[in-house]
Amino acid sequence: MLKVTGLVTSYGGIDALRGVDLSVTAGSVTTLIGANGAGKTTLINTVTGIVRARAGSIVFDGQDISRLQPHQISRLGLVQVPEGRRILAPFTVLENLEIGWQALGKRGARRRQDFDRIFELFPRLAERQRQLGGSLSGGEQQMLAIGRALMARPKMLLLDEPSLGLSPVMVKMVFEAIERLAADGLTLLLVEQNARRALDAASYAFVLERGLIASHGSAVDVRNDPAIVQAYLGTGARAALEPVVGGAGPPFLATT
Ligand SMILES: Nc1ncnc2c1ncn2[C@@H]1O[C@H](COP(=O)(O)OP(=O)(O)OP(=O)(O)O)[C@@H](O)[C@H]1O
Ligand SMILES: [Mg+2]
Repeated sequence: MLKVTGLVTSYGGIDALRGVDLSVTAGSVTTLIGANGAGKTTLINTVTGIVRARAGSIVFDGQDISRLQPHQISRLGLVQVPEGRRILAPFTVLENLEIGWQALGKRGARRRQDFDRIFELFPRLAERQRQLGGSLSGGEQQMLAIGRALMARPKMLLLDEPSLGLSPVMVKMVFEAIERLAADGLTLLLVEQNARRALDAASYAFVLERGLIASHGSAVDVRNDPAIVQAYLGTGARAALEPVVGGAGPPFLATT
């Protein structure tokens, strides 16, 4: 569904992406993990046209999108949920969703259903329809950011660190929503520093290091790679000694 080849993106002569190859299969959840400053946001912003690539190609749904404008890319169904949520604080939840709808242009007429789908996914937003965006909690703002992106009826969502700065309860809710969207068949690229959660949710994973893909493979294989465990999965030796099979892992590994 998305194929990025040889992507190079520079900021004033410094290459943030140095030839990235990455692809995402339709209907899958793929994760991109990497440390601060690895280039994750740059990759997402380049794919959605916010930042221009210096070299390389980006093909979405069979079409080269590397020269399109951001609004043209979102209308093709490739929509970003930006890092830091970027919701409009002085506008209500409904108004913020409305902005997502406008990104779609004049196509279609199933508007009520679009709202209903989001409120069903996030009942908390339904309860807070007339509340100002700026007065929502961080987790609620993340729900709103995802909801706003869904208003554009995406074929594929690019989520940039949706769990950043959230409480454990909110992280859980956000990941549950991600899993429901995936179960509905939406294609997802999930960018995360919370590698453990992301690898649980994804079927395939790419690891970005200083602007290059350092490794990639099935989420299970990446999770069991000792170098990845050491670099991204924290708790050191103990985690490294415990192989993880499948998504949730055997019961003796349960952390709760
Ligand atoms: N607008 C910009 N101008 C100049 N340099 C930038 C700009 N945006 C990012 N960079 C640089 O590009 C590199 C990659 O940054 P990017 O934000 O893509 O990383 P990231 O993986 O998303 O990090 P984080 O996990 O902190 O969000 C960094 O060295 C950063 O300083
Ligand atoms: Mg980032």
